[in-house]
Amino acid sequence: MSTAQEVPTYPCLAQELADRGLISACWRRVFEAVPRSGFVPADVWRQLPDRCEPVVGTDAWLALVNSDEPVVTQLDDGAEGGPGVATSSNSMPSMVARMLGLLDVQDGVRVLEVGTGTGYVAALLCERLGDDLVHSVELDPVVARQAAEALAQAGYRPHLRIGDGEQPWPGLGLVDRLIATCALRYVPYALLRQVRPGGIVVAPLAREFWSGALVQLHVQDDGTASGPFRGGATYMPMRAHRLPDLHDVRGRGRARAAGLDPAQLLDLGFALYAGARLPGVRLIHKDTDGGVQVWVTREDGAGAAAATGEEVWQYGPGFLWEEIEQTWWEYESVGRPDADQFGLTVTDRGQQVWLRDPREVVRPSRA
Ligand SMILES: C[S@@+](CC[C@H](N)C(=O)[O-])C[C@H]1O[C@@H](n2cnc3c(N)ncnc32)[C@H](O)[C@@H]1O
Repeated sequence: MSTAQEVPTYPCLAQELADRGLISACWRRVFEAVPRSGFVPADVWRQLPDRCEPVVGTDAWLALVNSDEPVVTQLDDGAEGGPGVATSSNSMPSMVARMLGLLDVQDGVRVLEVGTGTGYVAALLCERLGDDLVHSVELDPVVARQAAEALAQAGYRPHLRIGDGEQPWPGLGLVDRLIATCALRYVPYALLRQVRPGGIVVAPLAREFWSGALVQLHVQDDGTASGPFRGGATYMPMRAHRLPDLHDVRGRGRARAAGLDPAQLLDLGFALYAGARLPGVRLIHKDTDGGVQVWVTREDGAGAAAATGEEVWQYGPGFLWEEIEQTWWEYESVGRPDADQFGLTVTDRGQQVWLRDPREVVRPSRA
């Protein structure tokens, strides 16, 4: 039988973030002043690898809320009877701490958050900066209303807007910092145009080639922005940036021996490299008893399926698996760089991944 003593507490969670070096003394004071429980509704779900599981009972609720796990707060955009896909959450506290650290928040900066969700990050920012410097936009009106209520209940009144955070906030003017708490497939230039030169953008990117990664961009005088990737991140996507399913694959399968264990592909550095060399190629994976299984597809109907210790099957035009192996050997030849050696530049013409130096753009292997 569980006792109250066994249920984790919020001060323990803040202590854990501090012990892991994720929050400074200043942010620790802020986290301690804003209990996460004030921003989590009664009905929530735990995110499992393949589904969301309802959380039943007060002890289970408190244990989840006071742990370093995401808390799912909405399924299927709020529709009844859907497949049970998480569409809003209170993010994992260690990820929130990392992102706020990367945002380099100083006294007096104006911040725009895209994805108010439960309002917890907005509350942390209000506690740190004061209500007037904090702006937060949420697409889902039900989620936005609940966040506004939770914020008011906790005594915070940031500027809130219901709308599409991909579009400029009318009349807002330039902010010093922008934090996206929903994942982007690419950084929309319109987002950068809301940030003053010298400002910072922190966002999770969800790439088609398997990876999710944080990026920290510094906005330049000419309105472009550039900066490094800062480790892995799995976030629920901005609504218009949801990753589509794998492409339809054409033709009969052709088997061949694998020159590479597909588990090697699930390395964030390689995924960033391969995503830039093979744009439009989608890779998903599943853990198996013996290793992993991966599926790769491209718009032209090419595909490949590979599992640890088994033959590879290729489909459709060309030889997609061979392109991936070729990309792996190239990645080896550039020194197998880890994810932190890659960065991103965003301009009004799109975005480019670079390796070690913004001038060293990783270009697509096909024209
Ligand atoms: C992971 S949650 C955000 C967590 C939040 N920061 C918190 O403190 O709880 C992502 C949120 O982004 C919202 N969202 C998705 N697309 C959006 C868009 N285009 N503009 C604004 N919000 C969006 C979702 O509805 C969801 O509530």
